[in-house]
Amino acid sequence: MAVPRVLISDLDGTLLGDPAALDRFVAVTAAWSGRPRLVYATGRTARSVWYEVDHGGLPPPDAIITDVGTAIAGGDREPWPEWPTVRATWDVTMVRAALLDLPGLALQPNEAQTPWKVSYHASGMDRAALRRVARTLRRVGIQGRLVYSSCRDLDVLPRGVGKGPAARHVLGRWGIPPSDVVTAGDTGNDRDLLRTGGVGIVVGNALPELAALRSRAGNRIVHARAHHADGVLEGLSLAASE
Ligand code: GLC
Repeated sequence: MAVPRVLISDLDGTLLGDPAALDRFVAVTAAWSGRPRLVYATGRTARSVWYEVDHGGLPPPDAIITDVGTAIAGGDREPWPEWPTVRATWDVTMVRAALLDLPGLALQPNEAQTPWKVSYHASGMDRAALRRVARTLRRVGIQGRLVYSSCRDLDVLPRGVGKGPAARHVLGRWGIPPSDVVTAGDTGNDRDLLRTGGVGIVVGNALPELAALRSRAGNRIVHARAHHADGVLEGLSLAASE
């Protein structure tokens, strides 16, 4: 198996979800000579990622991208204060006020809310409903970005922020070209991440929202059949074999 310089993987539903598969992932990657840098990119908070590293068998990463790409910390657990670089017009209070009366949106608990992310539970939104949210934000002058995953979670972020942009920031700081990077994910909030590296692995248990993701120039998409961490391993083999 060819070893990428950096592996950036989502956690829930990707590296996490099958403890035996995670053990296999840990065993295989521990045997790699010249271990790649490992980055987790997740919707979780930093605190909950470090909990999984300390208690859940996740290998220690070189960096973590948390809160749907709105925060980054190094392997030393120190946050990178320069991120997010926000050039958009953004104000969480205005976002919340603007969306208050829209039907079908329920704010997630306080721990999920940050100065750069307003998160809702919003089951079964279709394109028209998402367009309505986007229009409402535009009307009050907010330059937001909507990330809808699992047919349930709606994250409103500042434009230009997310897992993909955060991954590019990490790579820029390390001086590593995206072509040397493999990413992995399973839901809609991984879409821009999967578009970031030379190879994007969609694990076998991914939600239908990623089924149509196809390779394009400079970004090969590999749909693995195996699930969770086994899918990441399979994707790495497929990426190396062709
Ligand atoms: C995680 C976060 C949540 C977010 C979801 C999808 O579950 O806790 O706030 O909406 O990921 O990005």
